[in-house]
Amino acid sequence: MTDKKPVVVYGASGYTGRLICEYLRELNVPFIAAGRDAARVQAVMDRIPGIETADYEVAAADHSVKALTDLFKGSRVVCNTVGPFIKLGHEVAEACLATGAHYMDTTGEQDWVIEAQERWGAKFAAKGLLLSPGIAQMYTTGEIAANFCLEKPGLDTLDILVLWKGFPTYASTQTIFTILKAKWFYLEQNKYVEWPAGTSFEVSVPGQHETALALPWGGTLHPVWFKDDPRVANCKVAGGVFARDVMKGVIATQAMFDEKIKPLPADQQEAALAEIAASVQAGMPPRENPRINMSIDSVYASGPLGRAHCVIHGNCNYKQTGLLQAYAAYSLLQQPSKRAGFASACQAFGHRELLGVLKSFGLVMEPILTVHG
Ligand SMILES: NC(=O)c1ccc[n+]([C@@H]2O[C@H](COP(=O)([O-])OP(=O)(O)OC[C@H]3O[C@@H](n4cnc5c(N)ncnc54)[C@H](OP(=O)(O)O)[C@@H]3O)[C@@H](O)[C@H]2O)c1
Repeated sequence: MTDKKPVVVYGASGYTGRLICEYLRELNVPFIAAGRDAARVQAVMDRIPGIETADYEVAAADHSVKALTDLFKGSRVVCNTVGPFIKLGHEVAEACLATGAHYMDTTGEQDWVIEAQERWGAKFAAKGLLLSPGIAQMYTTGEIAANFCLEKPGLDTLDILVLWKGFPTYASTQTIFTILKAKWFYLEQNKYVEWPAGTSFEVSVPGQHETALALPWGGTLHPVWFKDDPRVANCKVAGGVFARDVMKGVIATQAMFDEKIKPLPADQQEAALAEIAASVQAGMPPRENPRINMSIDSVYASGPLGRAHCVIHGNCNYKQTGLLQAYAAYSLLQQPSKRAGFASACQAFGHRELLGVLKSFGLVMEPILTVHG
């Protein structure tokens, strides 16, 4: 027996890290709230109502494999919220592998998830460890909806919409701009196909008359998760925020990126994007309000002779993310995940289980499911 806390929340000074800590407290899971600056982490913990009833400690580490390995040693699960993950994720995954800890993160970056699967998936599988990037509202809630549709056999095509209402955090904004550099893929006949530059969609939104503007949003994670799922051959995803002005801004930035920044060398691209991101969002957004911060995950699934549609209305997408992470950690401390190595949240923990957790904490409604054929 060791007295080391079993879960490390890395990035606990951030908006999402804090929420994971809040839900770990509610699930009675002891944890280490960690970040690069202990005082900043402690200041955030001190503002959490009821934190005095949590079994936790604060720790600091540099963002290096060595320091993170020392931090993770003896713990069993790491919840990583330090993004953009394509830039900062490998050190954390490597330290998890070195110490025998399960790795989870909150990414929505398709390029990172593909890279993590290729570089770390087999190594984690060989050690019986879970590598699960992307346990988060974007895109786990949509994955839950897709899996409800896929309970009807014979549907091989997924057409997914993920929308949320709210303010991106500092790291989310950095991430949105970082993914402009990446190639974005959808799935066609089990193969990745690159989205043409400048693709956007006018989408009809279930439950409202007004349409919305959406983008492939970095490709999203569903094409990666469903690539090796024999039920699914095709998967396209549209995503974004409800606010049309924000989406117009992202589309304009994308066009500007393609014209002015893409021709620059890689390091200059990064600096230019970070500068734009910092000018858009510099502070911590307000705490979510369920009357304002809604989410919709809608999935049309189709096959030659059948159709299904599943809509999950929810609220507070950062809270959904915090809860999904905390629940996944809580689950891993009690029993192995359904798969070792690279796996999505639903592949690792089950879509019905995850829906039940989100529902029981008041973050999503019962899915609206229609099935034909
Ligand atoms: N897919 C989804 O639905 C979803 C939902 C939520 C979050 N996310 C993603 O999760 C990530 C975190 O989001 P957030 O809302 O928590 O952002 P945030 O509030 O800006 O927090 C970012 C955290 O990362 C830390 N950090 C940043 N750069 C670092 C570095 N170079 N070395 C070490 N630590 C560093 C920050 O530490 P300091 O306090 O020391 O700066 C902070 O703890 C983002 O990439 C976001 O896109 C995705």
